[in-house]
Amino acid sequence: STPPNLILENRPYPTDAWTNVPSSIISALPRRLHLQPSHPIALTRRLIESRFPGFTTYSSFSPIVSVQQNFDSLGFPPDHPGRARSDTYYVNRDTVLRTHSSAHQADVFRADSSDGWLVSADVYRRDAIDRSHYPVFHQMEGARTWDRRRLATSASANGDLAQAIWDDVARLPTHDVVVEDPNPPTHPERNPLQANYHTPEEAEAVGAHLKRSLENVVVEVFAQAKRAAVAAGDAKAATEEPLKVRWVEAYFPFTSPSWELEVFWQNGWLEVLGSGVVKQELLVEAGVPQRVGWAFGLGLERIAMLLFGIPDIRLFWSRDPRFLDQFKSEVGEVGKGKVEGEGRIARFQPFSKYPASPRDVSFFLPSTSSPAGGRPVFHENDIMELVRDTAGDSVEDVQMVDEFVHPKTGRKSLCYRINYRSLERTLGREEVNELHEGISKKLVEGWGVELR
Ligand code: PHE
Repeated sequence: STPPNLILENRPYPTDAWTNVPSSIISALPRRLHLQPSHPIALTRRLIESRFPGFTTYSSFSPIVSVQQNFDSLGFPPDHPGRARSDTYYVNRDTVLRTHSSAHQADVFRADSSDGWLVSADVYRRDAIDRSHYPVFHQMEGARTWDRRRLATSASANGDLAQAIWDDVARLPTHDVVVEDPNPPTHPERNPLQANYHTPEEAEAVGAHLKRSLENVVVEVFAQAKRAAVAAGDAKAATEEPLKVRWVEAYFPFTSPSWELEVFWQNGWLEVLGSGVVKQELLVEAGVPQRVGWAFGLGLERIAMLLFGIPDIRLFWSRDPRFLDQFKSEVGEVGKGKVEGEGRIARFQPFSKYPASPRDVSFFLPSTSSPAGGRPVFHENDIMELVRDTAGDSVEDVQMVDEFVHPKTGRKSLCYRINYRSLERTLGREEVNELHEGISKKLVEGWGVELR
């Protein structure tokens, strides 16, 4: 049923056995929420960009990238789970919808000689549907590097790279938020010092600059979120203790050492971004072996949800003026103090939801591991995608409510509850039934399940 070519952004891409981009995703490609002037994702992008003065910004790279850009250039091993067809949208064997903004790191390092840059991008991952997950979301990537060669010829810091970086740390704004940083900066296996390329002093200076720079971003964003929440009478926010952040050791194939930054928000630790000292092999491959520095990647949706108090990630995709118009007062004011200034972020005012229509579908999985059509084993993301492709944004969430293995036949039974609810209008009973029957039918035809 796959056509010989997929037309994406006006270009034909040959399809093959790897192709798995459904039409619901293709229709999201032109949306580019991070570029819509009054959209909360774009406002969040601009707020964060304003914390990196002097950085070059990019926000219109195509989301269609090569496997080389998305995975190989970053040192992902061939068997890395992120490469699986169950997790990633393949246009074909060599081409994917980028799964992260890191897909552009090597290209930007190669083409851009500025010391700091930011890339904002729509990214795509096969995932569950719920209030905080959507298969398309937005990330911002950023990097700050120092040029060893340029440093050697300048008088400052006597050519001492670590000293020059510390001098830059001293120029960064300070903040008074409590920072926990309990782990040693390196770990012998997961996060070693890149000893072939960096002295311990250099790596330490890069790490210090990374941490202070990103703490400043998070402190500003969360201070704004709290002010907006308090102004809107959010009792939880008002009683919130002072902001606390912590650095946690992380692993990424393209940084070492690596950290995640977490923020204590409302009732728990929230992961905000991934970061680390850029692997020197990547910079060497990108033709800038003399550069040394750090990179980070953060998700814009999560930050926008906190900043504006938006309760459901699907709202970002709404074309309902009751949603979009709420952020319009901020347009044009960004950069003149509205978003950057104090307490000017306006909290989202929830409007009444349309009624929900839950429906269950129960079925036995086929007894063989490889059902008709040579399909691989059923994966939970497959039902998510089938639902999305049939019902689009008319589904609020999908949850497995029952699972058991028949004691005699050994067959596995699953029950999923699909909650139908439009953000735009009340769905009719007939309409919901039709969508639900369509989904049940596709489960039978596509996966060989037996409805119960
Ligand atoms: N690309 C990583 C992710 O999506 C985040 C990251 C970016 C980590 C840059 C380190 C450096 O999780």
